[in-house]
Amino acid sequence: MPDTPFIDDGSNLPLSELRWPDDDLTRIPDWIYTSDEVFQRERERIFFGESWCFVALEAEIPDPGSFKRSYVGDVPVIVSRDQDGEVHVFENRCAHRGVEFCRDLRGKAENFTCPYHQWMYDLSGKLMAVPFRRGDRGEGGMPKDFKLEDHNPKKLNVTIRHGVVFASFSETVESLEDYLGPDNLEQFDVVFKGRKLKILGFYKNRLQGNWKLYHENLKDPYHATLLHVYLATFRLMVAGQKSAMICDESGRHSTMASAKDDDIEITEETASQMKSAFREGMELSDPEFLNYVQEFDSPWTVTMQIIWPNLIVQRELNTLGIRHIVPRGPNALDMYWTMFGYDDDTPEMDKHRLKQANLMGPSGYLGVDDNEAIKFLQDGFKHSQDGEGIVKLEPEKEGSTQTLISEASVRALYRHYREVMDI
Ligand SMILES: [Fe+2]
Repeated sequence: MPDTPFIDDGSNLPLSELRWPDDDLTRIPDWIYTSDEVFQRERERIFFGESWCFVALEAEIPDPGSFKRSYVGDVPVIVSRDQDGEVHVFENRCAHRGVEFCRDLRGKAENFTCPYHQWMYDLSGKLMAVPFRRGDRGEGGMPKDFKLEDHNPKKLNVTIRHGVVFASFSETVESLEDYLGPDNLEQFDVVFKGRKLKILGFYKNRLQGNWKLYHENLKDPYHATLLHVYLATFRLMVAGQKSAMICDESGRHSTMASAKDDDIEITEETASQMKSAFREGMELSDPEFLNYVQEFDSPWTVTMQIIWPNLIVQRELNTLGIRHIVPRGPNALDMYWTMFGYDDDTPEMDKHRLKQANLMGPSGYLGVDDNEAIKFLQDGFKHSQDGEGIVKLEPEKEGSTQTLISEASVRALYRHYREVMDI
């Protein structure tokens, strides 16, 4: 039985009849999170448009023949390394009847064979063989003019930066460097440049919310000091500490950065504003859990970078990971988390990173709060009529900011979004 009766919130109206309220970026209409038509346009214009989408870390496909099943938007793709070491990304869709033919999450293969009619593809995604192509004993089979090379799965444009593989359906997309812009490129390179990665593990979970809510969550430092008891109580992020939101010029990418400061004085006023999250006097029984081993050339102890439209690069103290967003219609997303360290890490550092990884993931000390908040948001959107949200904090700014108490980067994102989506 549904929890509350469904009310039409405009999600079923044609897009042509939906208008952004008063053209005002401080107001976000609920229907951008619930409309099927909006979601279809997002697929076409964002995920299949002029974007670079994350698909894999090279460390996941280290050898010739290594492959990984991945997604661009919700479209299944295969990321593979051929015998010459070149990385290919192509649709995981059999040219015959559309079956997602590679079924293993990752592994090593000489080729891929569709389970249904055994059509076979090589590591670069070329169709190599069709059983009974000439029929059996002179009967049946494909037409005489059938050519294998006319039936390759769609190949995507590929770019790799410091071991991170991105793909695009667009042939005209700008370089990844131009796409990210100088400031976000710099933050990206802090994590990846010159270091070989070591994969430490994976998580996967489904969130009952629209995929854009995850972007908003990481462009909204305001919630961090109010929702996350762990973050505030153990002073990973508290109002008053040094922090920044570093946006690119387009408004689509951003890095939420902060510097842990154990000596910061929490005034009575600040503590009372954060009263739901800040628990005075609480202590960890294992204080080493939150140790920060200085290892990066950066003033920030935490950076959460979100690269439009589907990648989060997480550097929270010494726990490193990427999160890959796979939208599942307007009302859900799948999150694929990959935790990693560096190839030259000591066994102690591996252990430290794995321990700190408990902060994140489906039930992480921090991650779990966001997962739940995103569901609460979506429930609100689904069961309201003509609803809209307000994002007015720090009204004089749009984009980068130095304070946690701001929604300036959420507004910057929606300026970009409305341009691309033409709504
Ligand atoms: Fe959060």
